[in-house]
Amino acid sequence: MEITIFGTGYVGLVTGVCFAEAGYNVTCFDIDERKITALSQGRCPIYEPGLEEMLKRNLENGRLQFTYDSRLASKNADYIFIAVGTPENEDGSANLEFLEDAVDQIGKYLSRDAVIIIKSTVPVGTNQRIYQKLQGIVPDNIQVKVVSNPEFLREGSGILDTFHADRIVIGADDNEAGRAVADLYKPFGRPILQTDVRSAELIKYASNAFLATKISFINEVANLCEHTGANIEDVAKGMGMDVRIGSQFLRAGIGYGGSCFPKDTKALEKLTEDYEYDFKILRSVIEVNSRQKQQLFEKARELFGNLQGKRVAVLGLAFKPHTDDIREAPAVELIARLIEEQADISVYDPAASGNAADLFGSRLYYAENVDAAIKGADIVFIVTEWPQITQYDLERFSLLMREPVIFDGRNCYDLANAESAGLTYVSVGRKAVNVNRNLENSRLRG
Ligand code: UDX
Repeated sequence: MEITIFGTGYVGLVTGVCFAEAGYNVTCFDIDERKITALSQGRCPIYEPGLEEMLKRNLENGRLQFTYDSRLASKNADYIFIAVGTPENEDGSANLEFLEDAVDQIGKYLSRDAVIIIKSTVPVGTNQRIYQKLQGIVPDNIQVKVVSNPEFLREGSGILDTFHADRIVIGADDNEAGRAVADLYKPFGRPILQTDVRSAELIKYASNAFLATKISFINEVANLCEHTGANIEDVAKGMGMDVRIGSQFLRAGIGYGGSCFPKDTKALEKLTEDYEYDFKILRSVIEVNSRQKQQLFEKARELFGNLQGKRVAVLGLAFKPHTDDIREAPAVELIARLIEEQADISVYDPAASGNAADLFGSRLYYAENVDAAIKGADIVFIVTEWPQITQYDLERFSLLMREPVIFDGRNCYDLANAESAGLTYVSVGRKAVNVNRNLENSRLRG
């Protein structure tokens, strides 16, 4: 049995490598020749814990191969997963160009019956349209079926999530094809939900939107904590102990980023518009998040007025720890505003500095560690909760900075510890400590 994966981004690559690990013969295709060359040599183009080792192991045992030849990738495949990107169009809708191209190639070169499995996140109705399109391309003697199989893995824990998925969703209007895909997943031993195609497509968007809702909701509660003097850590803990609410995704902070939540919430909003349905909560979730992303900067402005010429260190660039991904990362927006302000900016991230350098070039100083980033700084912004940052010795802020003023967008430190280390420490949804400036009417007054 031959499996092919179209697209070697996070989802495609992790899926391909994990299916090889589970014992299948897998061919991964991508149009990016350089990426394919690197992957064929066992070099992983993305930072994903454990992926490179698994990639090398399966290249060596011959179960995994890479190609940029779409004919080779398509012709002998029994199962073809499509996991190409569906980026955001200017109007917020999902851009399906890569998907359409992949389908054209597959349809052109298929030489035997196959099941096409769409993993890319696509608007409701897309699978059906792709099925109809394929009927018009493939020769009459070849039977092709289309199955929706959305992906829920998280960056930074992709392998773990694949082998321990909470559920595998398989949407098929053809029972036989749905069962065949369910059989493919048997070695993973995870719960499988079989649905119709449209429901599967919507499960993906609804799940991401719901998680984004939890984050925006808790961020709103955090903002309310700042006004009322409550503490968001305790409030979230107390809420999360109710199993109906659940404790996950209740970490207040500087807002969600990444390649999925921002794009998928907007695409879902666009979809609802197309159906002339007003999904009010979704609109608010998006609005709250874009406001939240500005919060640390606004707080610094409130405390300092103008940031021009200030020495500023930004700790953490990736949209979350254990990834080098800076797409829609709150740090990127913060840095753009700091550049506008003409602040003097140093940054530190254990994995994402290279990607930030591609974006910001020499406008930033890229430090090798926290010490180097904060040395001589007036202000520190904490944007990503990498262990190197959360476990940093608080005494060193006072030692290395001019005056230790920390704006923490991820609530990394205990308030009492920050206070006793003498830091001016402003976090999210908690009282500000050691703020001794004249802030009588400010919510930063502590
Ligand atoms: C997400 C979904 O979790 C995954 O199921 C889907 O397949 C893709 O999108 P990912 O974007 O990799 O995964 O990361 P995730 O861990 O979900 O975090 C997304 C963003 O939300 C990050 O910016 C993170 O910092 C933020 N977040 C998460 C919070 O601000 N608070 C939380 O409590 C949880």
